[in-house]
Amino acid sequence: MSRKHIVAGNWKMNKNLSETQALLTALTEKKNTGDAQVIVAPTAINLHAAVTTLEGSEIKVAAQNMHQAESGAYTGEISASMIDSVGIDTVILGHSERRAYFHEDDALLTEKVNTAIAHGFTVIFCFGEELEDRKNEKHFNVVESQLKNALFHLTAAQWSHIVLAYEPVWAIGTGETASPEQAQEMHAFIRNTVSTSYDTTTADQVSILYGGSVKPGNAKEIFSKPDVDGGLIGGASLKADDFFEIVNAF
Ligand code: PGA
Repeated sequence: MSRKHIVAGNWKMNKNLSETQALLTALTEKKNTGDAQVIVAPTAINLHAAVTTLEGSEIKVAAQNMHQAESGAYTGEISASMIDSVGIDTVILGHSERRAYFHEDDALLTEKVNTAIAHGFTVIFCFGEELEDRKNEKHFNVVESQLKNALFHLTAAQWSHIVLAYEPVWAIGTGETASPEQAQEMHAFIRNTVSTSYDTTTADQVSILYGGSVKPGNAKEIFSKPDVDGGLIGGASLKADDFFEIVNAF
């Protein structure tokens, strides 16, 4: 199986410049004993400093978000070429906080995905059901439509730029984690959905990360599942020791 293991830290709106540099320096002092690609996503204003601080390190930097337009009158936004110009080629799109607080829907995410792909970026595409969906046994339908609506117009070749991050909304920042079995069940469903719409090669090659209260204490068990190829880590990515315990769970 050729797909990559990935552990990505989504720092959200945390860490100022000096805190960013301090955490990154601490991360570079840690040893990656496994085979996971490590990615960190600091806030936009610190992306350039992050790239500079991590020069010579294997740790990659990703942006947390990006505007769909190339440039123009979009006060407060950042474009793909701005991200590219500081040496970054990876962007997180569709995070549930962007969907919930900034009203990002499937149509907008389609545009963002297209812009990112046009710039040759890797997209860490987040999606996942809410608690209500799971209670009503709609979680498979919700996940399937989130994927189909924003990603299934891509060609099979373009899928080499996609990393999927399944993040059940009820597990994000709540301390509640999907059980390893629930994660595996959904990841297998996702891979199967990709396989049905594309082909088995595309499905086998896409890395599917799990996100939602991954911690040093539960990472190993979650990552041991065959269709879980890594994690998107929020809270626990803000401490070097915790984050690297998770990285080294592979
Ligand atoms: P959490 O966040 O690890 O703090 O639950 C995960 C995420 O939002 O990506």
